[in-house]
Amino acid sequence: MDIIVTGAAGFIGSNLTQSLLEKGHKVIGIDNLSYGNLRNIKKFGKDKNFQFVKADLKENSTLEGYDAEIIVHLASQKIPRYSSALLTLNENSVLLKNVLGKCIREGCKLVFASTSDIYGKNPDLPYSELSNMVLGPTTVKRWAYAISKIYAEQLIIANNAEFSLQYTIMRFFGSYGPNQNLTWWGGPQSVFIDKALKNEPMDIHGDGLQTRTFTFISDTVQGIEKCMFHPASTNEIFNIAANPDEEITIADLGDKIWKMINGNDSEPKINFIPYNSFGNYEDVHRRVPDISKIKSSLGFKPEFSLTDGLAATIEWQRKLEVKQ
Ligand SMILES: NC(=O)c1ccc[n+]([C@@H]2O[C@H](COP(=O)([O-])OP(=O)(O)OC[C@H]3O[C@@H](n4cnc5c(N)ncnc54)[C@H](O)[C@@H]3O)[C@@H](O)[C@H]2O)c1
Repeated sequence: MDIIVTGAAGFIGSNLTQSLLEKGHKVIGIDNLSYGNLRNIKKFGKDKNFQFVKADLKENSTLEGYDAEIIVHLASQKIPRYSSALLTLNENSVLLKNVLGKCIREGCKLVFASTSDIYGKNPDLPYSELSNMVLGPTTVKRWAYAISKIYAEQLIIANNAEFSLQYTIMRFFGSYGPNQNLTWWGGPQSVFIDKALKNEPMDIHGDGLQTRTFTFISDTVQGIEKCMFHPASTNEIFNIAANPDEEITIADLGDKIWKMINGNDSEPKINFIPYNSFGNYEDVHRRVPDISKIKSSLGFKPEFSLTDGLAATIEWQRKLEVKQ
């Protein structure tokens, strides 16, 4: 099949592209390299089924002339913890509108990357696809990301109602693994691994008691491919996540990574960073997925425990940091 992956040089995009190429699909990968890295896609250079387009999706013309049956739209700004809420709101909406226009004009299916952040601080756990979105006040800029993705989901569903757009919406729960961005942009794993390898203190935001349910990238990619190709995925929304019993506090995640790298007897070095150092910030206290819909409808089955996923990620990052 001919597939366009936006954000192909990023973390999820590069892992998805690799898996699609291995299965014999043709991939056109588009990325402006604002957060992606050529290192992630270098190995596909000789594959005749891969074409890389370095371009900005803010330009409507970027997508012109490329044919595809499916567009997986991953390119996005994320939580503006260290960046601009305005950029997140503007860019996420412009990019989606350009991709939507192409899908409607040319009849391609849109497979869209949404986020578990849209459940916000809903206290009713676990989060199913029909759970409520409970966000904080608009004066807290972190919600700009969730709002941009909620708007995106509504826009997609409205375009389905009016123009018969074919879509699948995926809500990812904290994915990690090889090719992850090595800054906070890539989530806590990469920065904790980096500090533990260097025997330097790990920064934990807030008190570290906030929990997440992290998903190893191979399981995220398995879920994306189910959302792309399974007939029952059309015009549906799916959580893509690890098993809910993998929920862990951020402090325990730091402790686990530290001990996997420096040994069980080693005491982690930790700096607690108060939330107010990011301005008016608000965190989500617990985040637990309900993955029963994607399991029963699409046959998704997460295969990696946190321990196994972290072991593979640490090995990848250790090799990368030795090279640098
Ligand atoms: N990684 C996660 O755990 C996670 C969780 C929830 C949702 N998501 C969503 O999944 C998607 C992919 O996330 P990721 O972690 O791979 O992020 P990433 O930043 O590694 O990848 C996104 C890619 O998009 C590219 N990009 C950004 N703006 C662009 C533009 N204007 N034109 C062209 N390319 C552009 C970046 O250079 C980057 O390579 C995003 O939509 C994100 O919101 C990710």
